[in-house]
Amino acid sequence: MTLSLPASLYTDPEVHVDESLRLFARSWQIIGHQSQLQDQAAIELDLLGHPVMLTRDDLGQIRVLSNVCRHRAGPLMPCPGGRKRLSCRYHGWQYDLSGQCISAPEMGDNPEFDPADYRLPEIRHALWQGLIFATLDPEAMPLDRMLAGLSETISPSEPCAFTFHHRDHYDLDCNWKVYMDNYLEGYHIPHIHPELNRMLDYRSYQTDVHDWYSCQHSPMEQADGLYGAGKAWYVTLFPNTMLNLYPSRMQTNTVIPLAQNCCRVIFDYYYEHPENPKTAEWIARDLAFSDEVQREDIEICQQVQRGLSSGSYDRGPLNQRREQGVLHFQSLYRRFMAPPEVDQHG
Ligand code: FES
Ligand SMILES: [Fe+2]
Repeated sequence: MTLSLPASLYTDPEVHVDESLRLFARSWQIIGHQSQLQDQAAIELDLLGHPVMLTRDDLGQIRVLSNVCRHRAGPLMPCPGGRKRLSCRYHGWQYDLSGQCISAPEMGDNPEFDPADYRLPEIRHALWQGLIFATLDPEAMPLDRMLAGLSETISPSEPCAFTFHHRDHYDLDCNWKVYMDNYLEGYHIPHIHPELNRMLDYRSYQTDVHDWYSCQHSPMEQADGLYGAGKAWYVTLFPNTMLNLYPSRMQTNTVIPLAQNCCRVIFDYYYEHPENPKTAEWIARDLAFSDEVQREDIEICQQVQRGLSSGSYDRGPLNQRREQGVLHFQSLYRRFMAPPEVDQHG
């Protein structure tokens, strides 16, 4: 019988610190989509607490730069008026979109100062299907190896066919792994999500696991419903990234641990033609439905966190048929968090 992770891994502040070093510092994270760079040359973002700037120069070269000025660590912003430069909010040093410092007000009196000596560090990034991923680990496994076969698996769904619409987030009073465990199984759908359950064919709901990702998929039953006929895909990229694909729309979710008992779930919403005024009403319905499902998940996740913290529970048996995704995630988690920490907890 395969057992779930022990409760202490969801409640111990030391585990939270270990995870940031052993797991998240070595992981790939979605930071954006190339469609966001169609109208903007630079976007300020956050990568696991590190300020970064996503840029695209005139030649189409995408970069992820550390958004920390080389003068005294101030934050940069895109220059106003569409000028293809970055400007520091603190004392006004300017950089080009490759991160090269090009001017620094009133530094000319210092004969040893040359802007050419100052450059924003570049952070490793990779593209998959239009999504831009970044990692703080120069040694992390190449992204294309991690995602090998995924495009073929989800075909004809194509994340690159979508355009970014907007970002939102929810803050939850639970450990980030409670949210992941919950996302990784459809076992709870008939009990927690009555509306979603009507939309999916629960009997045909399946989970396939691969080396570094797992896919849950189900036919959608309501041919004339909100999403029409097609397939729902729920893809989890280890450790904390999810792609939710329905016909005509995609969401990406990233779960960011804030402490051992709270996390933030970032939602990026994508549509095929968000600029088309005719789709506005449908987008509003999609957002309302998505929010309803999310609130149902938040409620149960926060209750599970209370259960894990109660002292009356340690671990339980996983359902071999319905919780393969949870098992897969928890196995990878153990591998990354290798001894001595996890072994101490059993
Ligand atoms: S910190 Fe950026 S110009 Fe001073
Ligand atoms: Fe759910």
